[in-house]
Amino acid sequence: MQLATSEGLAGIIAECGGVLSCATCHVHVDPAWFEKLKPARQNELDMLQFAEEPGPTGRLACQLRITEALDGLEVTIPNKQ
Ligand code: FES
Repeated sequence: MQLATSEGLAGIIAECGGVLSCATCHVHVDPAWFEKLKPARQNELDMLQFAEEPGPTGRLACQLRITEALDGLEVTIPNKQ
């Protein structure tokens, strides 16, 4: 989430600054990458219920810790209205 907002990536609002209280950093992770991520904790799963266009590979970007192992990670940003 910090990388996306610092690069001005449109659609990642991150209203709460990463404290798991907004779901405006919601992304859809490419299925090929989804299983490579650490599983979402319950508080993330709870907040994902409030995300727009939730889906089976939805995650909150603020909870994704980028490591070298995730180099090339592909996500899409749900359409915001
Ligand atoms: S930035 Fe608010 S939940 Fe991720």
